[in-house]
Amino acid sequence: MRFILAKDATDVSQRAYDFIRKSILQNPSLILGLATGSTPLELYKLMISDHKRGNLSYKKVKTINLDEYVGLPEGHPQSYRYFMDNNLFNHIDIDKNNTKVPKGNAINLDKECEEYSSFVSTNRPDIQILGIGSNGHIAFNEPGTSFNSSTHIVKLKDSTIKDNARFFENESEVPQQAITMGIKDIMSAKMIILLATGSSKAEALYRAIKGPITEDCPASILQTHPNTVILGDHTSSFWIRVNREPE
Ligand code: PGA
Repeated sequence: MRFILAKDATDVSQRAYDFIRKSILQNPSLILGLATGSTPLELYKLMISDHKRGNLSYKKVKTINLDEYVGLPEGHPQSYRYFMDNNLFNHIDIDKNNTKVPKGNAINLDKECEEYSSFVSTNRPDIQILGIGSNGHIAFNEPGTSFNSSTHIVKLKDSTIKDNARFFENESEVPQQAITMGIKDIMSAKMIILLATGSSKAEALYRAIKGPITEDCPASILQTHPNTVILGDHTSSFWIRVNREPE
């Protein structure tokens, strides 16, 4: 695991983009694992602006997203499919048939989970972009999730519902369940780039990097991944910089 202390959120995004850009130039058919949430938004803006300048094509790139809410109707503005279309896919030259997001409104969710895991295992992401939750979750793998998990349905923790309520009219509208790649699926990526910005991530980031490897902090498993880069800004890296356990 390599930790890079970036200047600020813009620098975090720029450094992540540099990895992606270099990798797509080397392999135009790259498989890119993508994440939703506020953290990667600036990265997606960089991807779009550089594409519009004619510098990078996504024609052959394939993407696989980490997760999706369960039960939101197709096209719901808070669905992760909608998020990805609007914040990235609609603005670059990617073939939408090459973009995969779990189907949160599949009739048979168990089957969707099985098929998704099997898809990930035959299409291992070359780079997986990850955020981290303030409780140390990765994707929707909340504390306590087995490190051996494949794609599954989760009941969201209250803390995650609260964190995500800012995107909905009110907290009661946040779905209670999600479909998420499991930790084993995520760990199958050839390279993982975790982005962390803001003080709300400081404790989780410390535990992920310096804490014990424990299912209580799902992101701590990344310590065992052969090629993980963690990009943190100054505020998310507070406890790492002072080299002290969070109080
Ligand atoms: P955020 O979410 O980027 O919106 O902070 C990250 C996460 O919960 O994984």
